[in-house]
Amino acid sequence: MNTAIFIRKVITGEGAVNGLADLMDKYQPKKVMLFADPIIVQVGAAKKIESILEAKGVQYQIYSDIKPEPLVEHGDMAVKAVRDYGAELVIGIGGGSCLDLAKVAACLVKNEGSIADYLNLTGKKKLTNPGVIKILLPTTAGTGAEVTFNAVFSLGNTKDIISDENILADVAIVDPEFTYTLPPRVTAGSGIDALTHALEAFTSKGGTELTDTLAIEAVRKISRNITTATWNGTDIKARGEMVWGSLIASLSYFNAGVHAVHALAYPLGGLFHISHGESNAVLLPYIFDYIWPSCIQKMVLIAEAMDLPCDGKSEREIALMVVQHLHNLIKDTGLPVTIQDYGIKASDLDRIAQDATEQKRLLGRCPRMLKLEDIRKVYQAAYDGKLSE
Ligand SMILES: [Fe+2]
Repeated sequence: MNTAIFIRKVITGEGAVNGLADLMDKYQPKKVMLFADPIIVQVGAAKKIESILEAKGVQYQIYSDIKPEPLVEHGDMAVKAVRDYGAELVIGIGGGSCLDLAKVAACLVKNEGSIADYLNLTGKKKLTNPGVIKILLPTTAGTGAEVTFNAVFSLGNTKDIISDENILADVAIVDPEFTYTLPPRVTAGSGIDALTHALEAFTSKGGTELTDTLAIEAVRKISRNITTATWNGTDIKARGEMVWGSLIASLSYFNAGVHAVHALAYPLGGLFHISHGESNAVLLPYIFDYIWPSCIQKMVLIAEAMDLPCDGKSEREIALMVVQHLHNLIKDTGLPVTIQDYGIKASDLDRIAQDATEQKRLLGRCPRMLKLEDIRKVYQAAYDGKLSE
């Protein structure tokens, strides 16, 4: 028996943001708190939402004190802001951190305690109330925060999440137009995050036929379009495919679960402040170089989805070709391919390997078991930039 959970309503397509007007008629909020990344406010992307709210006579306040990879304290400040304003509905527009803060703040206002009480590894409480209405609009094609019930928080040297159905958004509005102006590095980082979601979901021990179907289609769309979307951002077809790929990767991964790439990426974000997408990207080929013997038939299906030439090759050769292709893809999007490129030193590797072992829930879903010495080996490979063959 398997269970899958999906968001109730997703509005997609160019101009999907206009669907917000009907949602205001439906929910009739008196006060709305609009969570928006500072850059989104700066480039005027939040204006469209503001004009819809104004046209509907809805009072609103903008909350843009949003940091990437927010600390628990940032989350508590956001909850306080929603509570103090008395918002009856929360809208989030931005990247993953902004959407995470918006959905958690909207939920926590109707639950007792603070963010720390509900963290996965150390929290002691369970959320009991979904809070106020949450509407989320992603501006990147990657995190999936708009359709998942996970929210990530930094804890100094590592990260933890709140994972609870109560923080799931009521509506996600996925409008590709928001991604058309994303710069190459953000497109690449968030796109590789989405590809990682798809690849990890597809190889996760928690995967099902349902999640596999979504994940492999996401691998196809993202791997075939990520370099075009990165370097030719006005290619609307590539942008559209990235948005669709990211959306279905997200619907898949939060049911199947991600595993070793995300587990080993967390200490890189926590200790060295490397963005979430890039910390996954710099590890992705090295993890798959280590785990492919545990999921070799799936590696063949991944190769086919990526349109790699498989004829006449053994399964082993195909798996290694996928690993090399992942390395090439990351390089071709202009992202760093070694952790040295981020200033990480050889003397840091023992410590980050130790930190990564804490991510037991994620590591438990990896098809190949990774003990401390295995994790250390993967970091060493990512440090040296060396694939096994
Ligand atoms: Fe991710």
